[in-house]
Amino acid sequence: MQSLLYKKIVLGITGGIAAYKCAELARLLIQEGASVQVVMTDAAAQFITPVTMQALTGNPVYTNQWDARIYNNMAHIELSRAADVILIAPTSADLMAKLSLGLADDLLSTLCLARDCPLLLAPAMNLQMWQHPATQRSVDRLRADHIALLGPASGAQACGEVGMGRMLEPTEITEQIIAFFQKKVLAGKRVLITAGPTFEAIDPVRGITNRSSGKMGFAIARAALEAGAEVHLIAGPCELGTPLLATGKIQRTDVVSAKDMYEAAMASRDCDLFFAVAAVADWAIANPSKEKIKRQGKAIPKIEFTPNPDILLTLAQSAKKTQGKQHPYCVGFAAESARLEEHAQEKRKRKGIPLIVGNIGPDTFGSDLNQLLLIHDRGTKKLAKAPKLTLARQLIQFVATQL
Ligand code: C5P
Repeated sequence: MQSLLYKKIVLGITGGIAAYKCAELARLLIQEGASVQVVMTDAAAQFITPVTMQALTGNPVYTNQWDARIYNNMAHIELSRAADVILIAPTSADLMAKLSLGLADDLLSTLCLARDCPLLLAPAMNLQMWQHPATQRSVDRLRADHIALLGPASGAQACGEVGMGRMLEPTEITEQIIAFFQKKVLAGKRVLITAGPTFEAIDPVRGITNRSSGKMGFAIARAALEAGAEVHLIAGPCELGTPLLATGKIQRTDVVSAKDMYEAAMASRDCDLFFAVAAVADWAIANPSKEKIKRQGKAIPKIEFTPNPDILLTLAQSAKKTQGKQHPYCVGFAAESARLEEHAQEKRKRKGIPLIVGNIGPDTFGSDLNQLLLIHDRGTKKLAKAPKLTLARQLIQFVATQL
């Protein structure tokens, strides 16, 4: 499925070595269904030719504000009115400074000033230029003017130095553009999500955990943020980075045990939507040892278990019901080894929740793909095998219709 179908993107290119990545970026945007109109500064044309960009996008490239190919000779107005978004990648320190001051002395800066659509910048520059107080002043001013910045990232730079200032990779920029265009169906809503496994300590070096990677919960956190929600993600021990968008941040709380997760969730229970995606341990160790348990001949240590609190059940039981609707609206997850629909339906009723999401198939743990069965109070809906982020976006759209 193409995620940018019918979207019109003006791709601005400024003069920096990262401009060579624009060819790939244009291809990726087009692959997702967007039409791409390139506008370059004179300096950009030193790094990548207008011919390359015209051949790749199938559209004439504009570099000059006096370009007579535009019927009324007002390229800055015509090009910006035709765009759903202006994306500038790479954005130089010079252009950032100009835009922050409202200067307009070439086609690209003039069309940014004349625009009536959102503007997204992907900065790329040497780390000293990025850290310079003048550039940081531009960053603050641009953000205050609601101009979104994609990156920069940190890493090896073309000049041989290492640090902040690298342009995001074309794949990441494309993902951010797709995120930007998601429907804001959860604008103003507070969303709480538990994700990942929990870890129950036996002693300081051993414990019991499970195979949950956290990927599905993190994907739902990202999709909720993309949909305009304020998101609090409570994560069990996992290696995943917190999803970051140009337009917002996720609040993340890292926990270890089910009891920690329960306490963090209870402290944030005042929300509109709760997704219980975590694979929470059913039992904690009743008698964890403060010191590492030593082997003593052939004796086998005895581990006693004690039940963990059920986070989803507790939150669902304390939820309010107004006009037959639960608040917060609680969504549970079920990973079953057999008879998924039957077990998940039973779990949905036992927990008193309007929707449970069944993971179909045995290969869900750690995989980037999944397929889901949504079981709600009026029927079922299958979401076909797809990347977890795609499914998370579909799930968010579905849930928004139920609120
Ligand atoms: O009861 P069971 O573990 O089978 O139910 C799974 C669902 O309940 C998942 O949504 C899981 O996140 C949630 N759960 C929970 N707290 C627990 C156990 C499960 O929130 N202690």
